[in-house]
Amino acid sequence: MALSLLIAIIVSILAWSHFRRRRRNLPPGPYPFPIIGNILQLGRNPHKSLTHLSKTYGPLMSLKLGSIHTVVVSSPDSARLVLQEHDQAFSGRTIPAAAEAHGFDEISIGLIPVGERWRKLRKLCKEQMFSARRLDGGAGVRREKVGRLVDYLRECSARGRAVDLGQAAFVTSFNLLSATFFSVDLIEFESDATQQLKETIEGVTKILGTPNVADFFPILKRLDPQRIKKRSEFYFGRLLGVLGGIIDGRMESRSMETKNDLLAALLHLMDGSEYDLTYKDVQHLFLDLFVGGSDSTQCTVEWAMTELLANPEKMSNAKNELRSVIGEKNQVEESDISRLPYLQALIKETLRLHIPGPFLVPRQAVREVEIGGYVIPQHSQIFVNAWAIGRDSSIWPNPTSFEPKRFLNNNMGFKGQDFEFIPFGSGEKNVPRFASGR
Ligand code: HEM
Repeated sequence: MALSLLIAIIVSILAWSHFRRRRRNLPPGPYPFPIIGNILQLGRNPHKSLTHLSKTYGPLMSLKLGSIHTVVVSSPDSARLVLQEHDQAFSGRTIPAAAEAHGFDEISIGLIPVGERWRKLRKLCKEQMFSARRLDGGAGVRREKVGRLVDYLRECSARGRAVDLGQAAFVTSFNLLSATFFSVDLIEFESDATQQLKETIEGVTKILGTPNVADFFPILKRLDPQRIKKRSEFYFGRLLGVLGGIIDGRMESRSMETKNDLLAALLHLMDGSEYDLTYKDVQHLFLDLFVGGSDSTQCTVEWAMTELLANPEKMSNAKNELRSVIGEKNQVEESDISRLPYLQALIKETLRLHIPGPFLVPRQAVREVEIGGYVIPQHSQIFVNAWAIGRDSSIWPNPTSFEPKRFLNNNMGFKGQDFEFIPFGSGEKNVPRFASGR
């Protein structure tokens, strides 16, 4: 008797949710269980599980993750609708509880709403970091960092020592950023301090990506049942401490005038400028740039090398191109890159197969929108499954095979104009726009 009552209740909840979905014409999707919704269907690898589900429900799919309505976008056409045609309507971010540590969500360029403050920060980055003057000025620093990586690899090779490529790529990308930002190398190839900073950055990125029951049921945020917020307070605090120490050191040493780096420019702008920059803004902007820039670059380099080692033929194509273009010169210059189409293609192919953010950085609908004949309610969370798009066999022949040459025969770029290939996202928030003068 009790069992049949329970079954009747569950059936009526499912029927009611089905009715509501039809009435509101939401995109189709698997039936959500009461309370937990579709959480169990995410599995251990959500990007793979959602790719699989979208084969049944289509490129615009609704899910209920706890109490959060979520839309999964899995085709280039739907990605174009979301990221380009309705960019403004989908310009919000869902804020994970972990990102609320130290008020990061209220300051971070990646999380604040698109508005006056966000535009000012983007303009600031474009002018102070990615302007042609700043990029040209930093070429020597970048050359030196790459030179140090090459020296380190040679040294290991001469001694017959194995190289931890992930660690080497991390040190190089981190020092490239720190030298551009502060004119110092923060870490060394092999040291305890490097290990600790690496663990801190990894701690921040990992905690931001850990599934948190409090994100599915915001009512639980204050309880922090998995202690995720507490752990993120620790990692964010440690990184902010390192950054604060560098900023304080510069302010105390009064050597601001002698440096020509991003920190000097920002401290100068703190003294009253159109940007209304505070100490906390500067500290959090560096946090944003380190978190956004180190892990993504490191894992791309690591995957590229892994694919090359697993595909000797592609490795020798890359080496041959380098030999013929660089010749006897010992080092590749940035100006050589335009003459290295195979190298460019293999980086694109790496990003296609091993995109660092499979769902990009999730967006949020800031208002109700109608797309493709479906209603997307305000506050819906939007996952653009760029991992699925990059491995869609109707777009990419032999999609799981590493074939850099497929990018030699098309003109696909990085800037989010081709929705088959969007590792950096698209629309106004697109990363290469920092540097593209828009
Ligand atoms: C392989 C390298 C990288 C990949 C694949 C990548 C990918 C992405 C993606 C997909 C987004 C979200 C864009 C959107 O919502 O449409 C993003 C945002 C962002 N990335 Fe990266 N990124 C990379 C490297 C970097 C680097 C080197 C930096 C800085 C030094 C950086 C800083 C940022 C920032 C600040 C944002 C937030 C932008 C905003 O919301 O306005 N990223 N990135």
